[in-house]
Amino acid sequence: MREKIKPIAKEARNLTRRQFAAKSAKLATAASIASLIPTWLFSDATTAQRVTIRTDQEIGVIRPELHGHFAEHLGSCVYGGLWVGKNSPIPNTNGYRKQAIEYLRDLGIPVLRWPGGCFADDYHWRDGIGAPSQRPKRVNIHWGGYLEDNSFGTHEFIELCKLIGAEPYLAGNMGSGSPEEMRDWIEYCNHPGGSTLSDARAANGSSDPFRVKYWGVGNESWGCGGNMRPEEYAAEYRRFSTYLRTFGGTKPFLVASGPNGNDSEWSRGLMTGFRRNNPDGLSMHYYSGGKDPALNFSAANMDDQLSSFARIEQAVIQQRALLDGYDGGRRVGLFLDEWGVWDHILPEDEARYGKLWQQSTMRSAVAAGLGLNLFNRQADKLYMCNIAQIVNVLQSLLLTDSPQGEHCVRTTTYHAFMLFKAHRAKTSVRVETQTSAPLDLSASASKSDGQLVVSFVNPRHDADLQIDCRIQGGTAQAGTAQILHDADANAYNSFDAPNRLTPQSHPIQVGSAGIQLNLPRLSIVTATFRTV
Ligand code: AHR
Repeated sequence: MREKIKPIAKEARNLTRRQFAAKSAKLATAASIASLIPTWLFSDATTAQRVTIRTDQEIGVIRPELHGHFAEHLGSCVYGGLWVGKNSPIPNTNGYRKQAIEYLRDLGIPVLRWPGGCFADDYHWRDGIGAPSQRPKRVNIHWGGYLEDNSFGTHEFIELCKLIGAEPYLAGNMGSGSPEEMRDWIEYCNHPGGSTLSDARAANGSSDPFRVKYWGVGNESWGCGGNMRPEEYAAEYRRFSTYLRTFGGTKPFLVASGPNGNDSEWSRGLMTGFRRNNPDGLSMHYYSGGKDPALNFSAANMDDQLSSFARIEQAVIQQRALLDGYDGGRRVGLFLDEWGVWDHILPEDEARYGKLWQQSTMRSAVAAGLGLNLFNRQADKLYMCNIAQIVNVLQSLLLTDSPQGEHCVRTTTYHAFMLFKAHRAKTSVRVETQTSAPLDLSASASKSDGQLVVSFVNPRHDADLQIDCRIQGGTAQAGTAQILHDADANAYNSFDAPNRLTPQSHPIQVGSAGIQLNLPRLSIVTATFRTV
């Protein structure tokens, strides 16, 4: 429908109803013309949307790991972001930035992947253990050639995970490493004691094994992880996995390097090449590129970026179906190991704050909401999803004002994740909306113990939505809602105004006919209520 009336739409979209009426007065009476034009064409339009939640149609449990995170030795993510060092004037807990730890603890970080990314395939774990002053200095060849002093290594990472309550996920080096090196890392982390490697861990401060479950076997092996062909990677994977064993009772969950986006040729090549030595997980990476710098997005480029989430949902469905063709019992979990908006990065921001530093705006929050909604809807197909990255890189949850700066703000993306926290570990249920257009209402719902949680995202910058939501299989009782919203897509939390965008309470009407609420343009709302 939008396509057919494009010539009118183009002009009218930039006008309010009143401006359009005034312009039209020469042709006919303003009222008669305006009443012929669909309301969504106007920048003050409101559209009604009917939604049905089918609490009797269960999709699957929303694994908390779908809200996972990723930290790479890149820019100021680790150094200056999470880790400032014990002697820093920045308030810290044992070297970890105190404010960042507190914010991450509040949110709850189910899982944290480290040390890369591309960095992982050039990382040698032995560089990062022992007395920090004795650790070798290396050049980070992927991210700007800075001198990596390895002061943040395996022990520091595990300690960070303990501080924030996250499950550690280590990405092993296949590209420039060997099966022996990775096998030894697992023994070092997980063997209880008595072997030379586990005794070295004890001498370095931890007699308790780390019991690390998740292990990535290479990263983006089709690119920065070795530029391999699928059959080459599959052969390497078979060789590596032969030696990656259970130590101390912790069976490693091995995650193979999956496709770039929805690349089925890579996935098919791998699943054939594994010759039934299947991994436990397959890691897909899917970024949502953006043509503009984060704070200056045009409406068209924002629509372009946000519409990628419909393709990500397709990719999840299609990749899962492909895997099911080889693995009917779904023993290979589908990971979306890296996702998020990747905007046009400004060199001046990189110079000041670190490589791939980007602000997070209302648009970014909407993108996060679209992602988290689709994870709920596809909860039966996804095992883990990790947004890139946790601090100061790409679509971050936290930003600091420089590696040396004391300020640490929670971004709009942090608040979007907070609005979805209530879904974790609940059972996702089917939601029907009137349209499945990529840039229209997005919704998901989950239930447990008589509680229903519903999230709505309005990705439109030109229309508010009036939601009339029916619940099938239950009756809603009193509930509450929270909203994250700004009509300005480029609004953000700055170091001067760190709380410009935070979740606010939002009115909803709850009755026997369901729930009704207003969903303003560019907003995320999560409503929680009891059902009987
Ligand atoms: O997240 C930044 C980079 O993006 C990662 O290092 C790599 O895996 C991906 O290409």
